[in-house]
Amino acid sequence: MKLLPCLAPALLCLGFLAGCGKSTAPDSASASAAPAKIKIGFLVKQPEEPWFQYEWKGADKAAAQYGFEVMKLGVPDGEKTMAAIDNLAVAGASGFVICTPDVRLGPQIMRRANEKGLKVVTVDDQFVKDGKFMTEVPYVGMSASRIGTKQGETLAAEFKKRGWSAADTAVCAVTFEELDTARERTDSSIAALKAAGFPADRIFKAPQKTTDIPGSFDAVSVLLTQHSDVKHWLILGMNDSAVLGAVRAVEGRGFTAETAIGVGINGTDCIDELRKPKPTPFFGSMLASAPQEGFASAEMLYLWIKDGTPPPLDTRSEGILITRENFEEILKKEGIN
Ligand code: GLA
Repeated sequence: MKLLPCLAPALLCLGFLAGCGKSTAPDSASASAAPAKIKIGFLVKQPEEPWFQYEWKGADKAAAQYGFEVMKLGVPDGEKTMAAIDNLAVAGASGFVICTPDVRLGPQIMRRANEKGLKVVTVDDQFVKDGKFMTEVPYVGMSASRIGTKQGETLAAEFKKRGWSAADTAVCAVTFEELDTARERTDSSIAALKAAGFPADRIFKAPQKTTDIPGSFDAVSVLLTQHSDVKHWLILGMNDSAVLGAVRAVEGRGFTAETAIGVGINGTDCIDELRKPKPTPFFGSMLASAPQEGFASAEMLYLWIKDGTPPPLDTRSEGILITRENFEEILKKEGIN
């Protein structure tokens, strides 16, 4: 997967050349050849994260069903994003789905896409211009506030079930407030814990510098040093990686499934964790369907290109709780394994 970003331009170039060969061949076979397939790009900010790999899987399913071509590219930064858009245009694509590495790149991405005549559907992270969502660009994502609320309610319920005292317990909220969908999730989760009666002064934030496991591990390690008196931790974060980093950090301080619990979001990046024979503090995750989001966003873009049907501007998916008890069965139904 990591090789994709650097291989992409070369592969796209080859695809382009192959396409040129076909359309300019003067023989009679080319006259009766089937029309070239519609091509779309599917650009994601973190291709190493299983969430995005499952989105790609969903896009591939749509491509197979409708008979279009999907070029899957990793775009970890702005420069690679702009280069990918240029390459897609050269390769003859008609549009792309994107989870941008930085939502503030929205205006620049749209400018470049318009110059190249490419249609755009955003997935997961909504473009922002001057501090406001670019609601004119179609968006497919999760219902961040509802999923965050359920995460907080689950933690509150498990806290009560375990009979831990509020004085001995604290919330570790791994935050990434620069990204709106992340902030909405963690704010809603914290609000749900407060609404369930958890004391506000026992809720501590650990801001991540990067949205991956090491980024969360580092942030939480600092928090644990500051609050070494806490006996039980309730862990929340914007996705599974955030909660997994925190789980690794608390385990490093001797916490176990009996003394700490975390609930993630995504449900795709915690499968190995839930399969571990011995339970860890990672209690469960709010699963939203990555394959379905990948399928839906690619399908919308394809139909827009093919028939001129404009996609809905805002499509949101809900989440369901998966735990060690039910995850194998639910993931199988979702086409994730
Ligand atoms: C963001 C996160 C991903 C995933 C998606 C879901 O992009 O970085 O891990 O949670 O949202 O929409």
